[in-house]
Amino acid sequence: MSKKAVVLVTRKLPVAVEARLERDYDARFNSEDKLYTSDELVRLAAGADAIIPCHTEKLTAEVIERLPDSVRSICSFSVGYDHIDLNAAKARGITVTNTPDVLSDATAEIAMLLLLGAARRAYEGEHAIRFGTWGDWSPTYQLGIQVTGKRLGILGMGRVGQIMAKRARGFDMEIHYYNRSRLSSELEAGAVYHEHLEQLLPQCDFLSIHCPATPETHHLLNAERIGLLPDGAILVNTARGAIVDDDALIAALRSGKLFAAGLDVFNNEPNIDPRYKELENIFMLPHIGSATRETRDAMGFRALDNLDAIVSGQEPLDRLA
Ligand code: DGY
Repeated sequence: MSKKAVVLVTRKLPVAVEARLERDYDARFNSEDKLYTSDELVRLAAGADAIIPCHTEKLTAEVIERLPDSVRSICSFSVGYDHIDLNAAKARGITVTNTPDVLSDATAEIAMLLLLGAARRAYEGEHAIRFGTWGDWSPTYQLGIQVTGKRLGILGMGRVGQIMAKRARGFDMEIHYYNRSRLSSELEAGAVYHEHLEQLLPQCDFLSIHCPATPETHHLLNAERIGLLPDGAILVNTARGAIVDDDALIAALRSGKLFAAGLDVFNNEPNIDPRYKELENIFMLPHIGSATRETRDAMGFRALDNLDAIVSGQEPLDRLA
């Protein structure tokens, strides 16, 4: 019987995913779900053929350079890959994969939840009930912004963006988008393409971010671009905090330039900029876009499909490096 490949699994994964790992690999689990430091990760990777990290493990160039030679692949349990330095991995001949597709529905659900919650002031309503500040019904109490029929701008019309557009059409929203390349008219399904982000922004009653975090998209939503949104617009982010400049967003929420924001992702999670917590016009969630039972199983199986392919000498479906 051939020796099973050794896999370092950096976080506690769903039961069914760990069962498959246990069956097919010599897996090193993290049963306490402890967040490893870079030093621990490098030490625990000794003798491992592969690592299954999450976005919580920062595989910077420096960390990748220190990984033992045994590590031949990194199969991330995530679609986002901003936590992995792909060039450093390539330089060491380490194959890197991610888990696209399987979390698109769950993430679009959370984007829609944030959009609705921000527009209808869900946080304030929840808070009023829980903390006993709900007074008599009043015709002018907690007025929000109606979603139906409004213009939704989508920044990044990939898999998640396209599903978000579909869901938003259920609210009769008019879809506009900016993407590196224009979609086919079949995929556009009537959405209006803008060749430049600066052309899209003035058309957005709502803006939902669905592009990856890369050096090119870092702080893409800065003060200048937020200034191009119509007054009273609503911004939703389920992609990555790094795409938004915190200072610019907080200033726009404080001044009323933006009516509200719906945020599932932040810079420096979980130690986010404390100013966000002081603002009532934000509906916030703790990075749970893909957190459904179905999706987390599917992400794990997709990561393992990639690993299986690599270990058996095949081309993995989702190669990044
Ligand atoms: C992803 O898959 O990128 C999610 O943000 C969770 O890491």
